[in-house]
Amino acid sequence: MCVVQPVIEQLKLQHQPVCHYIYDLIELEKHLKHITSSLPDNCQMYYAMKANSEREILETISQCVEGFEVASQGEMTKGLDFKPANHIIFGGPGKTDEELRYAVNEHVQRIHVESLYELQRLNVILKEEQKTQHILLRVNLAGPFPNATLHMAGRPTQFGISENEVDEVIKETLAMPSIQLDGFHFHSISNNLDAELHLNVIKLYFNKAKAWSKKHHFPLKHINIGGGIGVNYADLTKQFEWNTFVQSFNQLIIDHQMEDVTLNLECGRFIMAHIGYYVTEVLDVKKVHNAWYAILRGGTQQFRLPVSWQHNHPFEIYQHPENPYPFKKISISQQDITLVGQLCTPKDVFAKDVHIDHLSTGDVIIFKYAGAYGWSISHHDFLSHPHPEFIYLKQTKEDE
Ligand SMILES: Cc1ncc(COP(=O)(O)O)c(C=O)c1O
Repeated sequence: MCVVQPVIEQLKLQHQPVCHYIYDLIELEKHLKHITSSLPDNCQMYYAMKANSEREILETISQCVEGFEVASQGEMTKGLDFKPANHIIFGGPGKTDEELRYAVNEHVQRIHVESLYELQRLNVILKEEQKTQHILLRVNLAGPFPNATLHMAGRPTQFGISENEVDEVIKETLAMPSIQLDGFHFHSISNNLDAELHLNVIKLYFNKAKAWSKKHHFPLKHINIGGGIGVNYADLTKQFEWNTFVQSFNQLIIDHQMEDVTLNLECGRFIMAHIGYYVTEVLDVKKVHNAWYAILRGGTQQFRLPVSWQHNHPFEIYQHPENPYPFKKISISQQDITLVGQLCTPKDVFAKDVHIDHLSTGDVIIFKYAGAYGWSISHHDFLSHPHPEFIYLKQTKEDE
């Protein structure tokens, strides 16, 4: 039975259409403890809070990870509520002077510099503030990187410093006394499901970083290997093989003599996706021009991930026998159906032409793997429907 079913049973008693995000913080803690305890000794896990930065989530995660990766002043402020600044790393393109100054004055652990212009601005701010700052240069490698669904490098994108300009930027950096170059940041692939591919990409990072450190005579202290470990939304039974990955990762570190270099991971999706559920009630079921539609409370303004990734989001149906009306519910069996929200756009689709055994009005759809890039990437107020409520499943005294 899905962990959220007893919660939905309770929600149905309120006689309001169900529309909630439910997060399983117990599973989140268990998952993170497994991940962090299995990492090689010189690796540290950071959480990329862009995936989900709700307070309860950050509070739980902060107890299990080395730090937070933040991409704005807003995220920095959120992170500082749960971690000291020297456990916060600041990345992302287009940092403003105000954000850089804030980061420097808070003494964040490292800034991931995305361009020569950003480096020069940071240098000016450091002189003005009479501070020094540890940085990594974020590199956009030439690639190519096969098989991962979203590429942040290996082809023209707005991220990082183009590989062919790295030598020049290293020289500039080493000439800046206020800046301490610790190493490199690479976040090249997203939603990668293949452990072997991930290792091959890391091998490339090791070789590049070592070559630059040798060529420019500076000690390589850190490499940030990014996030990008994926979640298989199409087949929930076949996920990234973490245990295989960490075993081979350990060997890779030994083979490349990288034991003395600190390796940071900054994962979002892999930490958060499976512990979140978007649960929403079937308001109507109808057939239009021979196609069946189920209209759900809420919509993709609350859970934009399926539209953003153009996929059918995995779901389970929670059937509920109750009928509050003096006429029959609408029920269908063994049909293909499209699950949509309440928005006035045909793009408001969670899953298209998916087969269902049985579905009735009043049932609740449980969208699984909705914990990462769900609410956080959604636009919330289109059509001004009420926001979903948020429920966090926590350990109770009796569970302990
Ligand atoms: C620089 C950077 N680091 C980490 C992440 C987290 O990636 P993921 O959620 O795929 O682990 C992202 C996501 O876009 C990113 O841009």
